[in-house]
Amino acid sequence: MPSSRPGILLSGANGQVGSALQHSLSEKNEIFAFDRTTLDLTNSEQIRQRVREIKPDIIINAAAYTAVDQAEKEADLAFAINGTAPGIFAEEAERINATLIHYSTDYVFDGSGTQPRCEGDKPAPLNIYGKSKLAGEQAIKATEAVHLILRTSWVYGEHGNNFVKTILRIAAEKTEINIIDDQIGAPTSAEFIADATAQILNQLKDDAIALNSGTYHLCCSGETSWHGFASEIVRLAEQSNIPLAVKEIHPIPTSAYPTLAERPKNSRLDYAHLKRVFGLQPTSWQTALASTLPLIIASSTTATSIK
Ligand SMILES: NC(=O)c1ccc[n+]([C@@H]2O[C@H](COP(=O)([O-])OP(=O)(O)OC[C@H]3O[C@@H](n4cnc5c(N)ncnc54)[C@H](OP(=O)(O)O)[C@@H]3O)[C@@H](O)[C@H]2O)c1
Repeated sequence: MPSSRPGILLSGANGQVGSALQHSLSEKNEIFAFDRTTLDLTNSEQIRQRVREIKPDIIINAAAYTAVDQAEKEADLAFAINGTAPGIFAEEAERINATLIHYSTDYVFDGSGTQPRCEGDKPAPLNIYGKSKLAGEQAIKATEAVHLILRTSWVYGEHGNNFVKTILRIAAEKTEINIIDDQIGAPTSAEFIADATAQILNQLKDDAIALNSGTYHLCCSGETSWHGFASEIVRLAEQSNIPLAVKEIHPIPTSAYPTLAERPKNSRLDYAHLKRVFGLQPTSWQTALASTLPLIIASSTTATSIK
């Protein structure tokens, strides 16, 4: 039974989601935050040791190997971090009756069709990153640990590198940019993910998590393409008087922008299950972007020169 101020072991604490979680969870929880230098997910013994030292009520694994293209060249490393480590966390969580929160991805699906994917749909990842994340899900499910695997999509946030920062940078430099318009998904802010995680954890005392252990889709509502996302970033930045050079944002197909890793065309996730079980209302991707963009702009070295 967690104390009135549950202890949380947080890995990947300096990533996009990890940083946002520290902010969202610190009021009601005691957070033991670890980055790669203090908890390296390639080191199974260190994972076990940290959990045994801290004895947390909750383990949140926000660490991951997220370099999707580089993963094609570093499969062993991607599988160690995304595939093996989550299973170690789950074994340790089971041992001490802690709840494990882990994040996964729309990239576990093959992106066929146009319908949103439900949790029970068959995964069929197209690339090493997706395969390694699926291996992590399976490793957790192979244990008896109470867990939530929260699959999300197209994450951006105040901290770390992401699509929003890239668009702001190139839109400040170039008059015309080309952005893919045939991959569809829901951009989801790290801040939204962290706030939703906090809302779910507030239900820990009611046994809601133990009774509903499993996999959930957690993303903002609505859908767009990367082109639609970029256009909205530019529109909001211009509205905030950020000086941009860009005049045209051209839509291009995925085939015109070859990458090492193949990406799913359909990244839509159906989040109805999460809504039903934990009562969470998703925020639209446009609303989440409008509230996170000022944080991103403010955290840049100077608001007028986003580099
Ligand atoms: N980013 C997306 O678009 C996206 C989409 C869907 C799902 N997700 C999932 O959402 C979760 C959070 O992603 P995010 O966007 O917050 O990722 P992120 O910003 O890349 O953060 C990942 C964190 O993991 C850390 N890390 C990497 N290797 C590690 C290791 N060996 N040991 C310990 N820490 C290590 C990184 O540390 P360094 O900073 O030192 O590298 C980084 O702080 C992940 O599970 C990811 O798979 C992300």
